[in-house]
Amino acid sequence: MTKTPDTLRSARWFAPDDLRSFGHRSRMMQLGYAEEDFMGKPIIGVLNTWSEINSCHGHFPERAKEVKRGVLQAGGFPVEMPVLSVDEQFTKPTSMIYRNMLAMETEEVIRSHPFDGVVLMGGCDKTTPALIMGALSAGVPFIYMPAGPMLRGNYAGRVLGSGSDAWKYWDERRAGNISDAEWRGVQGGIARSHGVCMTMGTASTMTAIADSLGLTLPGASSIPAVDSNHSRMASGSGRRIVDMVWEDLTPDRIVTPAAVRNAAIVAMATGCSTNAVVHLIAMARRAGVDLTLDDLDALGRTTPLLANIRPSGSDYLMEDFYYAGGLLAMMKQIADRLDLSCITAAGTTVGENIADAQVYNDDVIRPLSNPVYAEGSLAVLRGNLCPDGAVIKPAACDPRFHTHEGPALVFDSYVQMKKAVDDENLDVTPDHVMVLRNAGPLGGPGFPEWGMLPIPKALIRQGHRDMLRISDARMSGTSYGACVLHVAPEAFIGGPLALLKTGDTVRLDLAARRLDMLVSEAELEARRAAWTPPAPRYQRGWGYMFSKHVGQADTGCDFDYLTRAHGPAAGEPDIF
Ligand code: FES
Repeated sequence: MTKTPDTLRSARWFAPDDLRSFGHRSRMMQLGYAEEDFMGKPIIGVLNTWSEINSCHGHFPERAKEVKRGVLQAGGFPVEMPVLSVDEQFTKPTSMIYRNMLAMETEEVIRSHPFDGVVLMGGCDKTTPALIMGALSAGVPFIYMPAGPMLRGNYAGRVLGSGSDAWKYWDERRAGNISDAEWRGVQGGIARSHGVCMTMGTASTMTAIADSLGLTLPGASSIPAVDSNHSRMASGSGRRIVDMVWEDLTPDRIVTPAAVRNAAIVAMATGCSTNAVVHLIAMARRAGVDLTLDDLDALGRTTPLLANIRPSGSDYLMEDFYYAGGLLAMMKQIADRLDLSCITAAGTTVGENIADAQVYNDDVIRPLSNPVYAEGSLAVLRGNLCPDGAVIKPAACDPRFHTHEGPALVFDSYVQMKKAVDDENLDVTPDHVMVLRNAGPLGGPGFPEWGMLPIPKALIRQGHRDMLRISDARMSGTSYGACVLHVAPEAFIGGPLALLKTGDTVRLDLAARRLDMLVSEAELEARRAAWTPPAPRYQRGWGYMFSKHVGQADTGCDFDYLTRAHGPAAGEPDIF
């Protein structure tokens, strides 16, 4: 299973003595390269998701140089290739609508170019699943280079966590408890270096998943973006991909059912973002592994939460996690639950990778005897409101909401909900269950992160900071609270959430994993008969294509024609 210069994929472009290969060689020479620069060497695509407006990837120009240096040192030939920079903060209506676009671009860019191997440079939320989904389908050897978390936030001596503290200080501002100057101080201190959000939000969850799937250099996901170890990891990734090409270490040998299970367990132990559910299912299915919501719930019930990092943990952030030993040390705590024989991009097994790992602070990385939360961080609910599932993050909400019954307060759109929560005279009690619908994959559109519905001002003023909320939207991985998300099927396509009315009683029973509206079946049938579908959100463009092909939350929101079920993933068409 090893490659020789003659059997490299790139040899199909450059080796034959024919007119087409003459063209390929002559155009490489036009770029200033001699034949010995690229002939017979692994050609490595460096897929870079940098842009001037992606604040999480601001260090990627430097890292790309370091990756390419590593490729050259190991005897490969690097080719940097820009791909869509899906940034979380600025992309509207939501970055999620473009995850599948980047996945498609990644697959097609790899397939259409003479790449023998690929380094994927990503980190901001959607870039990790998108790059990996595409590269899994392309099937050539690849290694993931995670952006790394930014440094801890700081304002007036207080530690600030991405997202989580923005929500907290915003509630205090709405309650009239902090000044304009303090608010601007938080604004200037909450994101103070390059790198991804440094809570255990979606970005750090997804890079931890990539790491535990075996797709990075071991432990790479924990290294802060601006640490010099990060630069060394970048050049190390460049060196390693060249060897992966010679070893023909293709992704199907790494992303196996056992590796997916490892990644799901690790995700639960980190206190992962709810978004992990959607992306892990989508990535697994690209690899031909049929991961389901029920599989994840079963692992969630038996995996303790060990990483004491916000928002599930109380004090610490990703920088603390790295200093405490990082992901490898945490994996060692749960080693007996993992398949240690899984091979990783490093060419070593998971067992070998964690053999020497140590915990340096057992308040940050907890032992099994003292977990942050006895069960994993996610639970999957079913019931007459969500027959195809919904998710909740029990560790990140007030335990009194784990069992709750109250009247629904239903909003049909984000605009309607936003106006209502700012109404100081809104008729709402702490027992109410706030509902936002038409915010799923098709309704949002694009499955936006609106699921952490703001607590109504009327309750904020009374000192309340949590209440039960339900939506078919997602929420940011840095969010928290009693939020039931990803209700499937979504209301926009006639899921039962569309039938709920303000005043209906809703019941959540976390222990039984149930979410129901206490409405008779006859009444629901009458409402169903009266329901009319809303007009489609898009008539043209990407949104139109997205609407025609996107799946629901429980299947990972991939396009129907891109999943492995639609056909063999890796097989290359005859491109010559
Ligand atoms: Fe990029 Fe949070 S905004 S990771």
